Amino acid sequence: MSKIRLGALGCSVIFRSHYNGICANSDKVELVALCDINPTKLEQTAKAYHVDKTYVNYLNMLADPDIDAIVNTTPTVTHAETTIACLKAGKHVLCEKPIAMTLQEADAMIKAEQETGLVLQLALQSRHSQAWRKIKELLEAGEIGIPHTITVTQYWNDPWVYNNWRTIKSISGGGIIADSSVHWIDMMRYLMGEVDSVSATATASPDAPDKTIDDSSLTLFNFKSGAIGCLRNGWRNHRQPGSNENVEINGTQGTIRADLRNPWTMSGIPIVSLIKCDGPTETNFHFPLPNSRFASQIESFVKSIKAGKTLECTAQEGRRAQEIQETIYKSIKSRKWEKLA
Ligand SMILES: NC(=O)c1ccc[n+]([C@@H]2O[C@H](COP(=O)([O-])OP(=O)(O)OC[C@H]3O[C@@H](n4cnc5c(N)ncnc54)[C@H](O)[C@@H]3O)[C@@H](O)[C@H]2O)c1
Repeated sequence: MSKIRLGALGCSVIFRSHYNGICANSDKVELVALCDINPTKLEQTAKAYHVDKTYVNYLNMLADPDIDAIVNTTPTVTHAETTIACLKAGKHVLCEKPIAMTLQEADAMIKAEQETGLVLQLALQSRHSQAWRKIKELLEAGEIGIPHTITVTQYWNDPWVYNNWRTIKSISGGGIIADSSVHWIDMMRYLMGEVDSVSATATASPDAPDKTIDDSSLTLFNFKSGAIGCLRNGWRNHRQPGSNENVEINGTQGTIRADLRNPWTMSGIPIVSLIKCDGPTETNFHFPLPNSRFASQIESFVKSIKAGKTLECTAQEGRRAQEIQETIYKSIKSRKWEKLA
């Protein structure tokens, strides 16, 4: 098969990371077109990435027969409409997280994927991280015995979000839980299995311009296995550099700990540590920085296209994360534990 010809829908901040992933796979894919409703961004991106074909209306890009697949990095509110249009136009889609604004939209996307038989992959790039995979491998090998608690922290401290569509509910679907928790929810499921129920609380930081938007949250999880978990999310919570994104899993015979560095560099987890009850020292596993996850993600997308079906990070996985996220909001409102279907 010749190279997969990609079109970028949205000249976004995150597209830069996808672009690095595309460049790392230049033997398999090429970026042939760009689309953005903002003509200035479109022109600047086309110049920077040396792309000739540009479109301000994505429907015109979809009519181009020389494009095989689309990387959709528009804001959340447009994911469903644009992704469904891409699939119906015969283009495979790599769609950014979260899958959509609602479960109904996610279902419509899945229906379009099933009806067209094309690939719809979600950009849940942590699943392509070698470090997260190492954690899973250690768990499956029984290195910490039976894992029974997981604590995940994502504490950024950046007022950037207040000048961004992320804090506009009609575009993002909510606050930090709708926009950012999805990666961690997905990884908690990936490592600990299916979620049974959640109990959560959230608040806005004292300097948030809109106090109705959650920018700090705490969620407790019951997993179907009997394990329990805690997810701490915050856009305005200071934590010392180097430990503002991390995960710790405790088992009957040891602990796995991993620290993620600066989220803005999109670095993967650089070190995974294994601390065993009966071991004298901790064992550290080091992983490459920073965009390897985006390279693996594009590689996986190509594999799916060649296989004729979505192999990893399926729309169903994205839908489940959405369902958990919606249940977290339900619990915040009811102030009770809420059960997942
Ligand atoms: N995977 C990750 O870790 C990660 C990180 C950041 C953002 N994201 C996700 O990526 C998406 C984009 O986020 P961002 O902060 O990079 O966005 P952004 O605001 O930087 O860019 C979005 C772009 O989409 C364009 N756009 C909007 N509607 C359009 C349309 N109908 N047709 C063409 N272009 C359109 C806008 O003009 C803008 O240039 C979101 O879904 C976000 O949640 C994912």
